Amino acid sequence: MKFKTLVRPLLVATAAVGATAVAQPAAKPSPEGVATAAQNVIIDRALLTAFKALPSRFEDAKNPITAEKVELGRMLYFDTRLSKNQDLSCNSCHDLNTFGVDNKPTSTGHKKQLGGRNSPTVYNAGGHTTQFWDGRAANLEEQAKGPILNPVEMAMPSADHVVATIKSIPGYVTAFQKSFPGEADPVTYDNLAKAIGAFERQLVTPSRFDKFLGGDDKALTQVEKAGLKTFLDQGCQTCHYGPALGGSLQKLGLVVPYQAKDQGRFDLTKKESDRMVFRVPTLRNVAKTGPWFHDGSITELQTAVKLMAQHQLGKQLTDTDAKQILAFLDSLTGELPKGYIAKPKLPPSGPKTPKPDPT
Ligand code: HEC
Ligand code: HEC
Repeated sequence: MKFKTLVRPLLVATAAVGATAVAQPAAKPSPEGVATAAQNVIIDRALLTAFKALPSRFEDAKNPITAEKVELGRMLYFDTRLSKNQDLSCNSCHDLNTFGVDNKPTSTGHKKQLGGRNSPTVYNAGGHTTQFWDGRAANLEEQAKGPILNPVEMAMPSADHVVATIKSIPGYVTAFQKSFPGEADPVTYDNLAKAIGAFERQLVTPSRFDKFLGGDDKALTQVEKAGLKTFLDQGCQTCHYGPALGGSLQKLGLVVPYQAKDQGRFDLTKKESDRMVFRVPTLRNVAKTGPWFHDGSITELQTAVKLMAQHQLGKQLTDTDAKQILAFLDSLTGELPKGYIAKPKLPPSGPKTPKPDPT
């Protein structure tokens, strides 16, 4: 993967960032500062190699995407029978019509229990090099096995119970056979995760920024370009890089310590070097995926941007700078693939399908 190898050169390149991006004429702060500063912004295209246009799908040789798998994965994504009380599906917390999130600080799971972290978007998550806020799953397939068995999320008692439930639904048995041809016993928990993963790998939302990356200078407005320039000048791309503008593990509070109850990856590994290390969220559609940060504690995107400059880079952003960055972030809002995400017809339960269990 090309963007992985970018990490090191980028950190070196940042020092030179301020010198190479040019804006003319110099910004003069004023009430209309955002617009004034945005005249004739020229972006040094060499700096844009930090980013990458979104592919049409995030491939992984270990789980080739086929039409059959995607169709099955889509059904499973929407099926509440994968939860103990049959009232929650993946879509409950990652609503595909609302940019793959629930817009709550933290999500409500089985028996209305609240989880401790904000639900990240599933759109473009295939572009992350690791999944979950603490990076505890390597890829989407591994990730998908988590929430179904998590007692505060879908709360199924065991993988075997999930498999038995699927096997009790004749339409699913056929769909698994078609998706995993030649396998003697295709209905497995691993294959369920592969089908969901294949579906998610095509949840991509290209935006005007991709056109701009492709060479169309007019795809972004002057204010958005001014915001992109500020983003690059500040060095945000040292962590928010690649096709998703995020996806690696980094320390929250790198320059100025950040106070939070959740210690990120440290809570998982107990290694001191992992304290406050979080998976950098994608900035694709970030204007639509609030509230922000791992605990959903930030309710204004402008606050998130200012906190980032302060804690990650040791800089204070002016309101004008922050507003310009917000304009740039807006250009990362993409199109939802309406047809692809339409809720499919789910196969009817069989006589042995378990009933909802509210306990
Ligand atoms: C009850 C709400 C809830 C349900 C149901 C749920 N999720 Fe999540 N999901 C979350 C939360 C919260 C996180 C972050 C947890 C963490 O990082 O510790 C998450 C993380 C993820 C991630 C990682 C994204 C990233 O950027 O790291 C993916 C992908 C994902 N969920 C997909 C799914 C799929 C697929 C299903 C169904 C099998 C599902 N989720 C069901 C709430 C939910
Ligand atoms: C050293 C790495 C690093 C740098 C530099 C950095 N970020 Fe972040 N960014 C992160 C991490 C880690 C998080 C997750 C914070 C959390 O969840 O609590 C994050 C979160 C965010 C969020 C919230 C996204 C969400 O979905 O919750 C925004 C917006 C953001 N960054 C924008 C920026 C901007 C703008 C800059 C430059 C001013 C910047 N970041 C610089 C690592 C970085």
